[in-house]
Parts: sequence; C-alpha cells; structure tokens
Amino acid sequence: MNYYIMTLFPEMFDTIMGGSIIGRASEKGLLGWEAINIRDYTLEKHGKVDDYPYGGGAGMVMQVEPIHRCFEAIKEKSTAKKRRVIYMTPWGHTFDQKMARDFAAEEELVFLCGHYEGVDERILEEIVTDYVSVGDYVLTGGELPAMTVIDAVSRLIPGVLGNGDSAVNESFSDGLLEHPQYSRPETILGKSVPPILLSGDHKKVDEWRHEKSLERTKMFRPDLYEKYFTEKKE
Ligand code: ADE
Repeated sequence: MNYYIMTLFPEMFDTIMGGSIIGRASEKGLLGWEAINIRDYTLEKHGKVDDYPYGGGAGMVMQVEPIHRCFEAIKEKSTAKKRRVIYMTPWGHTFDQKMARDFAAEEELVFLCGHYEGVDERILEEIVTDYVSVGDYVLTGGELPAMTVIDAVSRLIPGVLGNGDSAVNESFSDGLLEHPQYSRPETILGKSVPPILLSGDHKKVDEWRHEKSLERTKMFRPDLYEKYFTEKKE
C-alpha cells in the first residue's frame, strides 16, 4: 500500500506516521507514504494557494491549479495503474470499518486535505473518487481525518499488526462491539475477573463473550444492535 497525502501541513504527518505501528510497518516495507506540500506547486508569487469565493462570503477557497499540479506530480512518480483519490470533508460519506476494509484492498490511496472554507469544486470533480467524513463535526482541516483513515486502513494490511494483535476479533468485525477484557491480577480494586474466564472452557468463554458483546452493543449502539438482528434474519 502506498499513501500520497496532498496537504498544506505535511509536517503534521511525521509524528503519527513516523512512530508506533504505522512507523514500524513502513520501515518493514509493508507500506509507503509521502506527505506533499500543495504550496510547492503554486505558480503564484508568495506561495499563495487560495483566493476569495466567487459570489462572496467568509473565508478563502483553495484554488484548482496548485492541487492539480501536485496531483499530476504524484501520477508521474507513482507506479500504480489506478488510484483512489479521497477528499476528506465533513459532507462526505461517514467513514466506517467496511470502508476501511475496502480501502485496504487498494494498491494506492491519495488523500486531499482541505482547509479554509473549502476547495474549488472543479478540482474535486476532476480528480476525486471518494468523499469521506470522519463524523458529524467540523475540524480545522482534513489532516487529522486523513490520519484516522490511514491508521484504520493500515492495521488491516497483512503483517502490519503483530501476531498477537488480531484484526479479526474486534469491535465492528462482526457488526457488534468488542466484549470486555481482563488481565492479571485476578482480583484488584476489590473486583474479580468473571470466573468463567478462568474455567478453561473455550466454548463457554466464547458464549459469555458473545453475550457481553450483545449487551454492550445494545447499551452503546442501539442502531448497530438493531441492524445485527435484521441482517441475521435476511
Ligand atoms: N475536515 C473538517 N472536518 C472534517 C470531518 N469531520 N471529516 C473529514 N474531513 C474534515
């Protein structure tokens, strides 16, 4: 998997992408990434990349040309035959685990991170294949959302998680939230581990975990709980 990120703040990616699991995966060659400064592609004096919106209104709009030239440069250096181009925006489709699995099957993903009041619609029409939001709230830019998507997608790439960290048995993998977990010691803060987990009976443990997953999903995400049973019936 190769990620290209078009942004006005490439340095924001260094900490997240350089450290921890994603950093290790890129050192192992399981993924590659490059954050590219859109400002490097402007032809305007003083590095200008935005202008006032036609029709008036507050804020500035990111212009077509620097983004277009930045994208052309990515296409030139890339070896992929095709690529998804993801524009991070609060009005996009809400990101979820299904979308993460879909993206993880791609060879290359290009992210466009917007700022200011938005991006000139014409460049979106020209290059974007997917419009993605990370939730119903507005952030100052698309960088944190892009990192969220990259993190969720990267951990699904074979070899990125260690053997111990399976992406199979976790929240959303089967439409339910994850069951509670316990580790040593057996008793702490006056609370003991549910005895069934010490029983060594794997079937009983699985049943208990499934029950707890259902309880948790019903409590925190009644929408998913409903969906789980309707989809099971179909
Ligand atoms: N840019 C600003 N807010 C955003 C959001 N919620 N999702 C994706 N991109 C964004």
